[in-house]
Amino acid sequence: MAITVILGAQWGDEGKGKITDMLAAEANIVARFSGGDNAGHTVTVGTERFALHLIPSGILYPRVTCLLGGGMVVNPKRLLAEMEGLEARGVDMSPARLKLSGRAHLIMPYHIALDGAAEGARGGAAIGTTKRGIGPAYTDKTARSGIRAQEMLHGPLTFAERIRQQAEAKNKVLESVYDQPPLDVESIVEEYLTYAKRLAPYVSSVSDEIARALRSRQRILAEGAQGTLLDLDHGSYPFVTSSHPTIGGVLIGLGVGPQHIERVVGVVKAYQTRVGAGPMPTELSGELADALRGSGSQPWDEFGTTTGRPRRCGWLDIVTLRHATRVNGLTEMAITKLDILSRFDTLQLCVAYEVDGQTIETFPVDLTTLARCRPVYESLPGWGTDITSARTTSDLPQQARGYVSRIEELVGIPAACISVGPGRDQTIRM
Ligand code: GDP
Ligand code: IMO
Ligand code: MG
Repeated sequence: MAITVILGAQWGDEGKGKITDMLAAEANIVARFSGGDNAGHTVTVGTERFALHLIPSGILYPRVTCLLGGGMVVNPKRLLAEMEGLEARGVDMSPARLKLSGRAHLIMPYHIALDGAAEGARGGAAIGTTKRGIGPAYTDKTARSGIRAQEMLHGPLTFAERIRQQAEAKNKVLESVYDQPPLDVESIVEEYLTYAKRLAPYVSSVSDEIARALRSRQRILAEGAQGTLLDLDHGSYPFVTSSHPTIGGVLIGLGVGPQHIERVVGVVKAYQTRVGAGPMPTELSGELADALRGSGSQPWDEFGTTTGRPRRCGWLDIVTLRHATRVNGLTEMAITKLDILSRFDTLQLCVAYEVDGQTIETFPVDLTTLARCRPVYESLPGWGTDITSARTTSDLPQQARGYVSRIEELVGIPAACISVGPGRDQTIRM
């Protein structure tokens, strides 16, 4: 049992990058298993900040091998740019420490064009996607027409023919369904042949890599992207991503059995945020929302790492955390951004919803029901002092300890660590 899984317990941006980087100090392998460059994971080391989109958040430890699992959708252009950016900052990017599963699907320019076109066509019902081509790439995977990373090894003629065939079919859709101009097929072919040449040495079988690592008793971290409420099945469908950022996604996305999983850490931001559209019962507006979000002057203020969009903000929603705990079998929580709550005199925890005259404590299946849910709050006292230098629980004001223990009690699992700032050291291990 050597795998620790790190999952987002909310709508993404919980601080998975920081927690993964922290736990990677004790790991040999860090593997992403789902999603693509819709993710934006921030790691802060001293005064340096790294925004990672595809490369796992363990990459800053020279000893750690990073894997991009088969459940991912990978835009090779973005991957190479990220690799170059890290290399320029002195990070070793050799194939010995970065491996891309041959089973991962490639994001193509027509996926990005289709993502934008589909969002436009949805009008007022737009999902608010990151427009990175994620949905269309997973659609092709499910339709069994997607191009896998492994195909970059099939030789230029075969690979080019596959791209041509797919791109021509997609051009028909862009033109006839969305009234969009067609893409230049031959320039896509040319571009992707150069990516294939550069990425070929990195293509591997991640499932086999992990099996080997397990045999030699190495420690593995599975780094989730997005969050449970964005899961295709267990999230607020259809305002979700097109993959499984939940525990099932780990097994499929890495090709590993459940008996190897030791811990399932749910990363929980001390309040709630969401980017993109869809219901969010505890969403606030006005001064309280602005106070949670921050003005944008600090890197940790609530503006998207990938798109720069302001995040919607609200009080912590225990109903969704119980849902995430059940769906994923969370064994513990890592509570992040507790320091942000120092700005408030009184805090609210949403312990149930009121809908159609009834009180419910479970996350509704039906989106129209979720949209009508009103939060039932329990008030707790704030602490009103800076806690960013706290390193043990006894350094925390009693009200901050009270807030955390009330969350533990309501959710039913312990907090294994509390984060009080973006830095590596700004963490309290319990
Ligand atoms: P992820 O997508 O889950 O990895 O989260 P993001 O990186 O998108 O967003 C989290 C933001 O909060 C980043 O800017 C982190 O550096 C920052 N962050 C993480 N933990 C803490 C914390 O405890 N306090 C503060 N103030 N910022 C934090
Ligand atoms: P990390 O890993 C927050 C959201 C988008 C949109 C929906 C669908 O940084 O937590 P997509 O482009 O995936 O088709 O968009 O999902 N979304 C995220 N929100 N954090 C993320 O990743 C997200 N990845 C996707 O905003 O609402
Ligand atoms: Mg993020």
